[in-house]
Amino acid sequence: MQGLAASSKLSLSVVVVLFLLGLASAAAHGRKRIVSSSSDEPCTKMTLYLHDILYDVVNNTANATSAEATKPTALSKSTFFGELVVFDDPVTERNALPVGKEVPAVRGQGFYFYDKKDQKTRDISVVGGTGDFFMTRGIATLQLDAYEGTAYFRLKMDIKLYECYV
Ligand SMILES: *[C@@H]1O[C@H](CO)[C@@H](O)[C@H](O)[C@H]1NC(C)=O
Ligand SMILES: *[C@@H]1O[C@H](CO)[C@@H](O)[C@H](O)[C@H]1NC(C)=O
Repeated sequence: MQGLAASSKLSLSVVVVLFLLGLASAAAHGRKRIVSSSSDEPCTKMTLYLHDILYDVVNNTANATSAEATKPTALSKSTFFGELVVFDDPVTERNALPVGKEVPAVRGQGFYFYDKKDQKTRDISVVGGTGDFFMTRGIATLQLDAYEGTAYFRLKMDIKLYECYV
């Protein structure tokens, strides 16, 4: 099992889909759609932290929040190139990893893959969600915030939403 941190560079470079699940599951009924008219004026702005605990194939089944969905290739041994990881990660307002049965306010679901680009930040699309993120659309700028060996990493996500339902 390889992990992000084993590489000296941030090689996590694309999160193809980020689906934010707000646990406040307010009904869609009666909501008003707001669409920003300018890229400088998102209808919602926030910073959240996404915690990813990679399945280690040995003993963290209960704790893991992501798992590789591809078999390691000859290339992925040294560079992780081609690896695809599916995640259902806790997302928090502060940077601490939720402990025990603590329920995070938000979950992020989707998948990422390694394509070995070396960029400090990366913009990805937020393509929808539930609760506070009902039908939302926007951009999240990701930055590696912390990691522990190959088991865990935390991404800081600066989120700007341009289509909101309030
Ligand atoms: C299995 O779990 C123990 C206790 O949490 C940990 O110390 C050990 O490193 C784990 N083994 C592997 C291979 O990750
Ligand atoms: C779950 O994984 C995280 C990150 O490696 C670790 O800090 C935490 O102690 C683990 N929790 C349990 C219950 O093993």
